[in-house]
Amino acid sequence: MGGYLTQDRAPILEALERMKRARLVPFDVPGHKRGRGNPELRDFLGEKCLDVDVNSMKMLDNLCHPVSVIRDAEKLAAEAFGAAHAFFMVGGTTSAVQALVLTAVGRGDKIIMPRNVHRSAINALILCGAVPVYVNPQMDHTLGISLGMRVEEVKDAIRRHPDAKAVLANNPTYYGICSNLREIVRLAHEHGMMVLADEAHSTHFYFNDKLPESAMAAGADMASISMHKSGGSLTQSSMLLCGPNVNAGYVHQVINITQTTSGSYLLLSSLDISR
Ligand SMILES: Cc1ncc(COP(=O)(O)O)c(C=O)c1O
Repeated sequence: MGGYLTQDRAPILEALERMKRARLVPFDVPGHKRGRGNPELRDFLGEKCLDVDVNSMKMLDNLCHPVSVIRDAEKLAAEAFGAAHAFFMVGGTTSAVQALVLTAVGRGDKIIMPRNVHRSAINALILCGAVPVYVNPQMDHTLGISLGMRVEEVKDAIRRHPDAKAVLANNPTYYGICSNLREIVRLAHEHGMMVLADEAHSTHFYFNDKLPESAMAAGADMASISMHKSGGSLTQSSMLLCGPNVNAGYVHQVINITQTTSGSYLLLSSLDISR
C-alpha cells in the first residue's frame, strides 16, 4: 500500500474534519441539520456528535460503492487485520455473519456449523434456504457452558456430508472457547469447502500472538469481527474480513442486498479511529 496510506492515518475521520472546516450549509438529509432542527437531541448528544451525523456526499464517499475515503479506510483495516479485503459494516456483526453465510451458500446447499451458533447464522439460513449440518458441541458440566467444535466432530460431519459447501466456526464461542481453527480450515479446504468464522468476540486476537489464532491467520476464507465488542468502536459497527481466495466484488453485492444506503458516519468513523 503506497503513498499516504499508513496505519497512523484515519481517512474517514480526516474527511469529516475537512467537511467541518468547509462550513457547509446542509440542504440535505439528515433533517436535524447538524442538530439545529432538534435542540433536545443536540443538548443530549452534543454538537460535536451531531455535526458529523451526516449522510454520504462526494467528499465523504459512499458505503455502497466506496471509491475514496471509505475505500482507503477499508484498505488500512484489511492491512491491520491481515486480510485481503475488509468491509465496514453498520448493521452489527449480525449483518456481517449474514453476509458471509449468504456469500458461501444458497438454497439447498449444506453448511456445517456448531449448534451453538449465534442466531444471526440461523437467521441467515432462513434467508437463503441453505441446510445446516449441526455439530453438537460437548458441554462443560462444571461451568455449565457448551464448548467448541472438536476436529474429530468436524471430520465426522465432513465424512457424512462431503457435498457440504462450507464450515462455519465460532472463534471463539460466546464463552470464549476456541476450536482448533487451523486444522478445521485444513480439513475443510481439503474437501473444497469454504471456512467462515464468527469472530464477534475476538478483535483482540489479531493484535497479540499470545492469544488464540485469528481466523485470517488460520487461513479462514471470511470472518465477522465485532469491533464494537472488544475493539473500542461504537455499538453496531462491525467488519467483514475476506481472505485472498474470496471474490470481494461478489461479497460486496451480497452485503448491499440488505445493508442501508445511509451508512452512519458516526459508526464508520468509529471503526476507522478504533483500527
Ligand atoms: C457469537 C456472536 N456472533 C454474532 C453476534 C452478533 O453481533 P451484533 O450484536 O453486533 O449484531 C453476537 C452478539 O452477541 C455473538 O455473540
